[in-house]
Amino acid sequence: MERVIGLLGGGQLGRMLNEDANRLGIRIIILDAEKSPAKQINANESHINGSFTDPEKIRELARQVDILTVEIEHVDTQVLEEIAEKGVEVTGADGKKSLKRVEVQPSWRTIRVIQDKFLQKGHLEKNGVPTALSQSLESTEQALKAFGEEHGYPFMLKARKDAYDGRGNYPVKSVSDIKEALISLEGRALYGEKWATFKKELAVMVVKTNDDPSQTLESTIAYPTAETVHEDSICKLVYAPAREISARLQSEAQHIARKAVSSLWGKGVFGVELFLMDDDSILLNEIAPRCHNSGHYTIEACPTMSQYKAQLLSILDRMPSFPSSTIPSKSPATIMLNILGGSTEEAHNELLKQAIAIPDAALHLYGKASKPARKIGHITLIASSMTEAETTIAPLIQTVNKIRAGRTATPPVGSTISSAQKLVLVTMGSDSDLPVLKPGLALLKELGISYQETITSAHRTPKRMIEAAENAAANGFKVIIAAAGGAAHLPGMIASSTTLPVIGVPVKASTLDGVDSLYSIVQMPRGVPVAAVAINNSINAALLAARILATSDPVLFAKLEKYAQDMEDGVIIKAKRLEEVGFEKY
Ligand SMILES: Nc1ncnc2c1ncn2[C@@H]1O[C@H](COP(=O)(O)OP(=O)(O)O)[C@@H](O)[C@H]1O
Ligand SMILES: [Mg+2]
Repeated sequence: MERVIGLLGGGQLGRMLNEDANRLGIRIIILDAEKSPAKQINANESHINGSFTDPEKIRELARQVDILTVEIEHVDTQVLEEIAEKGVEVTGADGKKSLKRVEVQPSWRTIRVIQDKFLQKGHLEKNGVPTALSQSLESTEQALKAFGEEHGYPFMLKARKDAYDGRGNYPVKSVSDIKEALISLEGRALYGEKWATFKKELAVMVVKTNDDPSQTLESTIAYPTAETVHEDSICKLVYAPAREISARLQSEAQHIARKAVSSLWGKGVFGVELFLMDDDSILLNEIAPRCHNSGHYTIEACPTMSQYKAQLLSILDRMPSFPSSTIPSKSPATIMLNILGGSTEEAHNELLKQAIAIPDAALHLYGKASKPARKIGHITLIASSMTEAETTIAPLIQTVNKIRAGRTATPPVGSTISSAQKLVLVTMGSDSDLPVLKPGLALLKELGISYQETITSAHRTPKRMIEAAENAAANGFKVIIAAAGGAAHLPGMIASSTTLPVIGVPVKASTLDGVDSLYSIVQMPRGVPVAAVAINNSINAALLAARILATSDPVLFAKLEKYAQDMEDGVIIKAKRLEEVGFEKY
């Protein structure tokens, strides 16, 4: 029989963990307040009412279960250590007392290091994980001034413990903020953090499947790199995959997240928050030793292995292995939008209606009473492209902004519609090829496909050409169109340096009518394919690129069907007119 899990905390994360446990037939006993969100969906007489910080209640839970886990890190790790290492006192049927050791996953050591954010930073630094510079600070004006003078303003003043949703942070913009910062975080142990000038926040969920800390990444599996957008220091939106960053940076984020999680003790799922800095370097912000808001999207995007199922399977030693140690998303583009309570209990009703009306949107409500700015649910939208997802969710974001306007006067965070990921790299041997390419570029635009145009000459800038080809896939391109005339080696050389599909456009030069270009492009040796279109026919190059992309994009597929239909209609209209009026009047 499967071991019984004891869960410290019964909020929304615990509730979603129970949704997966219910399906898997895994028994969970919860310690939290009566009728907490997780308890509402787990009919079980054994739940314990009380606080997950109360040592006696934790012991009471431990007596009933085989393994303990958490949905929140702000728990008592002294008692968890005691239960795991020495055991909790139990009374047998014969009335005899004995000690029962209960496994804690992830380890109490990990929870202890993580719940003190300054200890966490030190641990990460020691293990070679890049983080923003941090320094423990006395709660005095002098200490804060010294930090500001040395490391510059703004800096972030952070409480070492019990921080969540920005409650525990104070951005110190100048010396004049210091007094207020100390008042707002009064009575808490503090540390200062150098300001991180990031262009985006990223998040990677990581599963750890082995107990011991390790320098290798073998015992970790990563979910895709997602992008998080915060508003009022609370997560507002999650985009998976992260928008407008290269495949190289996405895998670097996964690598850093896996490296950090590898260094910890015990098993389970970890939420890793990262900063993508202005110079494209990546710093780790913080780790959560549990399922995380930035991983909610996995319920729909990874339907057979959500972060919740992974948490259950990893702590029970049942996690399957995944090729390349990554759990792929089954949805090309996913957006998660948090629902925060408005100024009244009904403020979010309109948003719920909108979400339910979208077939590809999943609504999750947590069974919590609505309070201003309280996380009471979320919506996850899956789509075939990020552009489509962003367009579909835009009205819901507007409603969220309206709900927020009802409880706060500050404006919402900026535009959330990105310029789409560039999918087609269009390159030419010389700017003299541009007039030939123009109709194709216009068609890509008309079809809503975003592209990058550039010049790379096979003969005059060979290094630049190879570099562009080698990095094209990592930069997120899916197809390359290369146009060249005369000794037209560009498409072939590009094809030799990438595995992306390459479409060659033979350009008619001043002599030989373009047949020279056509032969140069079409006569490729076996093993290095180039799809050649007709001489000067950039329209067909654009259409072929669109058809390749449409194999995994139903919206684009529909646009191409319409394009073909319009073309047919156009010919039929002409034929009808010719038939009616005859060739002389036509
Ligand atoms: N050093 C920093 N520089 C700039 N912004 C920061 C820094 N640290 C945190 N932030 C911002 O504050 C948010 C919340 O901070 P974080 O330390 O993750 O606390 P919480 O526990 O509340 O999530 C981050 O997601 C980020 O937007
Ligand atoms: Mg955070």
